[in-house]
Amino acid sequence: MKCAVITGSSSGIGKEISKKLAFQGFDLILVARNKVNLEKTKKELVEINKRINIILCIGDISSPNTLNNIEELVKTNFNKLDVLVNNAGAFDVNSIMSINESTIDTQININLKSPILLIQKLFFIYKNPKTLIY
Ligand SMILES: NC(=O)c1ccc[n+]([C@@H]2O[C@H](COP(=O)([O-])OP(=O)(O)OC[C@H]3O[C@@H](n4cnc5c(N)ncnc54)[C@H](OP(=O)(O)O)[C@@H]3O)[C@@H](O)[C@H]2O)c1
Repeated sequence: MKCAVITGSSSGIGKEISKKLAFQGFDLILVARNKVNLEKTKKELVEINKRINIILCIGDISSPNTLNNIEELVKTNFNKLDVLVNNAGAFDVNSIMSINESTIDTQININLKSPILLIQKLFFIYKNPKTLIY
């Protein structure tokens, strides 16, 4: 059985990728902050494929705790990883002239730092990684 981690899988592009992978028979670890939305996604995925294992990881990917939880879930449930989709992201639509430093730091953490840390934690420690979507 193939397995994948998809961050930001409770809505939008991440949710659509999750549906495709569920249809293809992947076991999935879904990551996002909003528990209700993530559980709703899981329900929809079960309707697509009842035979796959779907694990939820509720958390903010800019938190080291969440990254550690993801690593632990991969280790205990799969002990391998075929696909990592670093999809979770934040984008502030305010003007570059008015964005404050804290928002810049938050966006860099979510969009750049955390995906790199997750790649380091997961992608390179498992044998024969096949696919990385940044
Ligand atoms: N749609 C576009 O036209 C477009 C264009 C360029 C780039 N992108 C990028 O593509 C990605 C997906 O876009 P989208 O339009 O599908 O966005 P979306 O509908 O807003 O979905 C974002 C997903 O990321 C999760 N998320 C956001 N911040 C998170 C965090 N700190 N920790 C964990 N999960 C987090 C959200 O769930 P929670 O809120 O529950 O955490 C949600 O599941 C984003 O990285 C976006 O920047 C999109």
